[in-house]
Amino acid sequence: MPTAPRWDSLWINVSAATMEPDGAAYGAIEDAAVAVKDGRIAWIGPRADLPDAPESLAETVHDGRGGWLTPGLIDCHTHLVYGGNRAREFEMRLEGATYEELARAGGGIASTVRATREADEDSLLAAVLPRLDALLAEGVTTIEIKSGYGLEREAELRMLRVARRLGEVRPVTVRTTFLGAHAVPPEAKDDPDAYVERVCDDMLPAAADAGLADAVDAFCERIGFTLEQTRRVFDAAKARGLPVKLHAEQLSNLGGSALVAEYKGLSADHIEHLDEQGVEAMAQAGVVAVLLPGAFYVLRETKLPPIDLLRAHGVPMALATDCNPGTAPVTSLLLMLSMGCTFFRLTPEEALAGITRNGAKALGLDDRGILREGLRADLALWDIGHPAELSYSIGLNPCRAAVHGGRVRGE
Ligand code: NIG
Ligand code: FE
Repeated sequence: MPTAPRWDSLWINVSAATMEPDGAAYGAIEDAAVAVKDGRIAWIGPRADLPDAPESLAETVHDGRGGWLTPGLIDCHTHLVYGGNRAREFEMRLEGATYEELARAGGGIASTVRATREADEDSLLAAVLPRLDALLAEGVTTIEIKSGYGLEREAELRMLRVARRLGEVRPVTVRTTFLGAHAVPPEAKDDPDAYVERVCDDMLPAAADAGLADAVDAFCERIGFTLEQTRRVFDAAKARGLPVKLHAEQLSNLGGSALVAEYKGLSADHIEHLDEQGVEAMAQAGVVAVLLPGAFYVLRETKLPPIDLLRAHGVPMALATDCNPGTAPVTSLLLMLSMGCTFFRLTPEEALAGITRNGAKALGLDDRGILREGLRADLALWDIGHPAELSYSIGLNPCRAAVHGGRVRGE
């Protein structure tokens, strides 16, 4: 009597960029096989190590037709949920206005806050889906989504509920981040400290109690919140057992990255103005550096994040879209690979690690980001001859299929 197959599915005729660190470049296994059972990777290795008849091993055999499998992509920093857009401000910036000037004049984040407050849950969801679908088409299987355009309790909770719903209506893992301290809302302009108090004592606890926040973020900047105010937000997060991360050192060096390190947080993001002291603090505390070349590009920034220092101190580097209506109307994570390499001089392998292994680390997830036995079967299948092509091409999408927890999308 034939024995039942061991596995739910088996991928053959593929190479695998496992992204295992410390081995071959990209952790590559040429002519590999990847077996999936119960949503996890049950086996991975050279095809030659398996018996000849694949049909006897798995219920379904997928032919990779000579492509490459990578871990499913991880976009670890987005503001995907928002109302309206800021195309008019884009025009004004092209005419000479700066991002900071627009923000101080009541535009910028505040203008998106107006549009987001006006939108109900269903219309927000409808506005987000095309952005999410563009990311998914490129093999994204995990995405982080922040609040931060409500800036009052109900609108913040609404944004987070929409983010959670996205994970129900699409095959993707959504990690939510409460970003009540994104900007001081117009009605609180005269008393920012009172707003921070509301964030800490009312909004953040409400988001935590509703199970809507997996982490807490803030914008520590001249046009955002001071280091002291950020500390208060971090204390409130800590009291609720939530990990912290920060928009830090984007326009100036306020020491936010070292503060994240002090709280043993997940990541410091943007960090163009980060100095060596901050890098050392991050290295010691295991804080991930999240690089956002889309915002760098849109703001025509010239100050580069300290990549050499981050490398020298062994700080893991992640890359993300920062998808938001102001500084990064970006819905392509592949484009971030290209920009990460060309602007920041990452190697294509570092760039790919930034949206797989290190993207997972930035979200505190240790069950994904690498193709390894026991981890989630989150995969992307690419029609490419070498993984460097993912960073090299601009505008081509060679993603043929993706797998989320063992479930195949596309093919
Ligand atoms: O990540 N820096 C602050 N937050 C966003 C921009 C938000 C906006 O302009 O709407 C960012 O760049
Ligand atoms: Fe951001």
